[in-house]
Amino acid sequence: MKTGKTNQVLWAGRLAEKPEAEAFAFQASIQVDKRLAQEDISGSRAHTAMLAKQGIIPAETAKTLDKELARIAEELAAGPAGELSALAIDKNAEDIHSFIEGLLTQRLGDSGRMVHAGRSRNDQVALDFRLYLKKALPQLREELAETIGVLLDTAEAQAETIMPGYTHLQRAQPVTLGYHLTAWACALDRDRGRLADALERLNECPLGAGALAGSTLPLDREISAKVLGFRGPTLNGMDSVADRDFALEIAAALSIVMVHLSRFCEDIVLWASEEFKFIDLAESWSTGSSIMPQKKNPDFAELIRGKAGRTTGNLVTLLTILKGLPYAYDKDLQEDKEALFDSIDTAASCLRMFRGMTASAAFNTERMKAACAGGFMEATDAAEYLVRKGLPFRNAHEAAALVVRDCIAAGQASIGERTLAELKTRSSLFEEDIYAALEPETCVKNRKLPGGPAPEEVRRQIAELRRHL
Ligand code: ARG
Repeated sequence: MKTGKTNQVLWAGRLAEKPEAEAFAFQASIQVDKRLAQEDISGSRAHTAMLAKQGIIPAETAKTLDKELARIAEELAAGPAGELSALAIDKNAEDIHSFIEGLLTQRLGDSGRMVHAGRSRNDQVALDFRLYLKKALPQLREELAETIGVLLDTAEAQAETIMPGYTHLQRAQPVTLGYHLTAWACALDRDRGRLADALERLNECPLGAGALAGSTLPLDREISAKVLGFRGPTLNGMDSVADRDFALEIAAALSIVMVHLSRFCEDIVLWASEEFKFIDLAESWSTGSSIMPQKKNPDFAELIRGKAGRTTGNLVTLLTILKGLPYAYDKDLQEDKEALFDSIDTAASCLRMFRGMTASAAFNTERMKAACAGGFMEATDAAEYLVRKGLPFRNAHEAAALVVRDCIAAGQASIGERTLAELKTRSSLFEEDIYAALEPETCVKNRKLPGGPAPEEVRRQIAELRRHL
């Protein structure tokens, strides 16, 4: 493997002395922005072609540069094992931009020294970051799509599985497991939309903004923007190097993704407890205890929930970096990439882990059904039964509430345990058909409004969400 030691800084002309090793390493960013190597090379290739087209550098030089840049890209590309590459990035370089330019100069001499005409690392880093995100965001949207797919497949299979729906973590009304899982899928569907929106807004090319004020050279910003697959160049150069809205938007969108996963995982942790026992996580998606021999813990769900803290932290980091930052570029901005890369990596791996854990879980549908008995989840249905018979809702609510109190006083677990004569003491409108109306299956089946838990309606919701994929 070649070592790409370039051993020089781009600003050596002005400053005769370099910071001492620890200080140099402190201000360097190569360990983080080496991830942008391929994007940096793509940007340089587009810039070089444009420089030649505009007569700023000789066509022959552009050809040489392009060939060498392509070679470096290939040498840096990961091998099949994922880590093998023919060229090592010099960990003592200042940043990826210095490293690539240094390498060109080392290999090509004066031709290499021509590549940076009309460019600054300020527009270069803004470009590389955007190019990287143009690739990363569709991948994240795909991770979301696959996760939604798993939830919807399970939701479809469990469209008739009755379970308690909760408010205040108290049993509220019967729903189905399919309905619950479809609710989760709706949240992830919006996440996909937020990433698509961010992608749309970041799709402008900052190249040509220079350090902050463009260039006196006759650059053609349209050409490089087009070659790099952008909608067009950014409007204002100062904005282009100062702006990190795209990073903020994505960090926000990803912290919302993680808050969603965290909430789903909280449900799973509850469901996996002995108290609920609604879900049986696969053994391969559980961990044991070093001391308690009986334990089977939902560590994956807990860790995903915990990692939502990182992504929230990264968003706060970015907001804090930007707040109070004078225009245009400031070195503070170098901290942006570590935060956003971490959010991207965290969200991607958590989506994969969540998917694996959920797809392999077994649901204890008997327990779910049994949990619908007791807790008087049929009380709203009793009240709506009376409304259908003409009683004002508030009176119906009171009558049903009194029936619940009667049940509790009599030690009964559900309204259906009362005789019709007993029910009639609270409302004469109760008839024999009340008993069928109180069955959990009926309660669910009757909620067939758009957005409701009735199985046929949930199947419609599932079909609608699948269309978005
Ligand atoms: N490594 C820098 C960053 O990530 C590149 C831009 C440096 N520009 C500068 N004027 N020091 O922000």
